[in-house]
Amino acid sequence: MKKLIDVISEEFKKAFTECGYDEKLGKVTVSNRPDLCEYQCNGAMAGAKMYKKAPIMIANEVLEKIGDNNMFSSVEAVMPGFINIILNPAFVVSYVNDMVADDKLGADDIGKGETVVVDYGGANVAKPLHVGHLRPAVIGESVKRIYKFMGYDTIGDVHLGDWGLQMGLIIMELKERQPDLCYFDESFEGPYPEEAPFTLDDLSEIYPAASAKSKEDADFKEAAQLATVKIQQGYPPYLALWKHIMNISIPDLEKNYDNLDVHFELWKGESDAKPYIEDMVQDMIDKGLAHESQGALVVDIAEETDKKDYPPCIIKKSDGASLYATTDLATIVQRVKDYNPSKIVYLTDKRQELHFIQVFRVAKKAGIVSESTELDRIGFGTMNGTDGKPFKTRDGGVMRLEMLVQNIEDAVYEKIMANREVSEDEARATSKIVGLAALKYGDLSNQASKDYIFDIDRFTSFEGNTGPYILYTIVRIKSILEKYKESGKSLDDTDVINTLEDAASKELMLSLAKFNETVEDACNEIAPHKICQFIYDLSNAFNHFYHETKILSEEDAEKQKSYINLLKATKTVLETCIDMLGFTAPEKM
Ligand code: ARG
Repeated sequence: MKKLIDVISEEFKKAFTECGYDEKLGKVTVSNRPDLCEYQCNGAMAGAKMYKKAPIMIANEVLEKIGDNNMFSSVEAVMPGFINIILNPAFVVSYVNDMVADDKLGADDIGKGETVVVDYGGANVAKPLHVGHLRPAVIGESVKRIYKFMGYDTIGDVHLGDWGLQMGLIIMELKERQPDLCYFDESFEGPYPEEAPFTLDDLSEIYPAASAKSKEDADFKEAAQLATVKIQQGYPPYLALWKHIMNISIPDLEKNYDNLDVHFELWKGESDAKPYIEDMVQDMIDKGLAHESQGALVVDIAEETDKKDYPPCIIKKSDGASLYATTDLATIVQRVKDYNPSKIVYLTDKRQELHFIQVFRVAKKAGIVSESTELDRIGFGTMNGTDGKPFKTRDGGVMRLEMLVQNIEDAVYEKIMANREVSEDEARATSKIVGLAALKYGDLSNQASKDYIFDIDRFTSFEGNTGPYILYTIVRIKSILEKYKESGKSLDDTDVINTLEDAASKELMLSLAKFNETVEDACNEIAPHKICQFIYDLSNAFNHFYHETKILSEEDAEKQKSYINLLKATKTVLETCIDMLGFTAPEKM
């Protein structure tokens, strides 16, 4: 469905061309003086220079052509040559009705027939999820849902860090603690036990102990590095231990992501890239791209137009080990082969910028992806505490993600219990939903690349630009609809809004009508914060409407029905948006 702003622009473009002016001048924008008008066209101002004419003359000529048009209730040229536009309420109503009748609320399937892989999450097996994993999970899930809504086939891949040093560290620590295990007996010929020699609790203690040891004991660290290479080379006993670690750790990661309402289609990891590495590297050598440098195999990526010096991308270390870039490149090989995506989008910390510049350039140079395949990355900023420094626990440690989620849930719980008379169980269930919204909205409402301050008090507030405020608005609508139904009237007979002339209804409808434009922008720019801004404005417009309008006591049944249908439309749009952000609304709060 055409965007409202384009429908209006078309009228003006036509008028400008009919007057002999450049079509481009007819572009219409949302008014920056909402006190004067809803939309505006500044084309006459730009045209004045091109055509050496007073802008007000051009504006008046254009208005002459626009003439009496049902779309507008007023179009006015004001000095020095702006055109102020106010839409006809009937036109706005009909636009919103068309939107409601459309199963995608007026948005186009811009991704139809295309596949996008979203690489997000990035948890490291056997290491606990900490607050640093919050942003890729939250932003990635939302980005994926936005793509899906826009008609793309989407594949979310957690891309686990599953064969890094942590694995070697755990194995070496285990060797010190339980040297008699068959995995460390070189004469043992298998098969290896099905049961792991450790539990999840053991693991969560073993890894930090081993990690701490490696910082003090260089020999231990070297042994762990060697063990890691052995895993990567498929040394059977270590591979068997590696599988135990995977089997124990992954369900726990799944549980943690589930708790965040974050779901991956693929649970692949760096290790899954292994089968693709050898051929890929050989191909790079054959193409003359990969060459030796100080014993390592590297690909140069510098380009003439670079303003910075970019070091070459290391594909193999001198000991033959693969690196982070190698697995990322081989993973692209696998994704192209299995899914032929038109886009691959990565969500990682800003600090990984160089890595991805290297990987993307090598992928293009080596023909791993075609020229037209889009490789994108959202490098997000740091989540800081209220002191402005990277978020830490009270005693300065790294906070576990579970802990963080619990803290925000508890804060919401306190608020609900203080405000309302509800049972503890109900308050708990509600605070889980609202807490998650507070957390996710608090993150997503910022432009991803910026740092932001994690402020529980602000995020859990029921007022202002917060998740709970949005949910509160939805709950308010639900409760009015419920009361309407309780009065014996039907919610299902029709969705059509008949003419509503009042200012508050119109403001709400104008806000609703920006839905398709917003989601398309959010998708093209990979910017969930645009959806947050939109639903915040929409919620404000709704709450203003609510305060201005008697809905349930309206005596004109047809008018009341229109209000109710406007409420339904608002609810659908808000719910569709929060679903794209990755959270839901409770029935009550
Ligand atoms: N596991 C990585 C880390 O903890 C993040 C992985 C991001 N995705 C990727 N394809 N490199 O830093």
